[in-house]
Amino acid sequence: MSKKISKAVFPVAGLGTRFLPATKAIPKEMLPIVDKPLMQYAVEEAVAAGIDTMVFITGRTKNSITEHFDKAYEMEKELEARNKLETLKIIRDIMPAHVSYVCIRQPEALGLGHAVYCARPVIGDEPFAVILPDDLIEDGSRGCIKQMVELYEQTQSSVLGVERVNPQDTGSYGIVKTGEYTGKYAPIDLIVEKPKPEVAPSNLAVVGRYILTPAIFDKIKNTGRGAGGEIQLTDAIADLMKDEQVLAFEFEGKRYDCGSKLGFFNRHSGIWFIA
Ligand code: G1P
Repeated sequence: MSKKISKAVFPVAGLGTRFLPATKAIPKEMLPIVDKPLMQYAVEEAVAAGIDTMVFITGRTKNSITEHFDKAYEMEKELEARNKLETLKIIRDIMPAHVSYVCIRQPEALGLGHAVYCARPVIGDEPFAVILPDDLIEDGSRGCIKQMVELYEQTQSSVLGVERVNPQDTGSYGIVKTGEYTGKYAPIDLIVEKPKPEVAPSNLAVVGRYILTPAIFDKIKNTGRGAGGEIQLTDAIADLMKDEQVLAFEFEGKRYDCGSKLGFFNRHSGIWFIA
């Protein structure tokens, strides 16, 4: 019987050096788009997909992420006493009552694959979602991960969210080559982490959204250090593809690369520059 996707992993242990000095004491995932932190957008997207267990893979200096999703008892009492009910609802809705979260420390920044592996004791033998909050995706309706969960339910295959990028930018992404499309998805034939444009198999880039079967954990365990000396999720996915079909899915919605200043600025200003 197929298993429901009820858990999402958020790898948020990275140092966020691209946003220094803002991120010296504040996690990059807590940088707000006006009044809402990136991390909250990511969790809301998971909740919209029916996910009820959030697994945060954190590191030192990331305590404010945990605090943001914790119940603010004193603040709630104060707002209630002052009859500020709209504001009260805003802070109560940050983490709906039926949703719980678990924090796991990634002791060393050994790469995205390693971060995902840290979630293994909580995920167990279930398919699960991975959401990178740096990639803010808005589609104005159900959300990117919901679209991917629906495709998983239909195919029982791992699904990677992909998007065409400027060919000169392949070195910033996992890049895939696919077989024939059915609607918006296609089986992946090849996946490479951050290839230079001259050797990239296409310009179809993996963005920060994944649905993975639990078989990925044994693959990560056997993955050595890859690009940048890190344990890459991309390399483990390449290994998984030897045993299982993995799909590329061109989701509906607009992605903002909020891991870069330009992407963050674009989302802030509501303008999309084509580089
Ligand atoms: C990670 C992945 C990469 C993926 C990207 C999406 O890279 O390793 O395959 O394309 O996220 O944002 P990072 O941006 O963490 O270097």
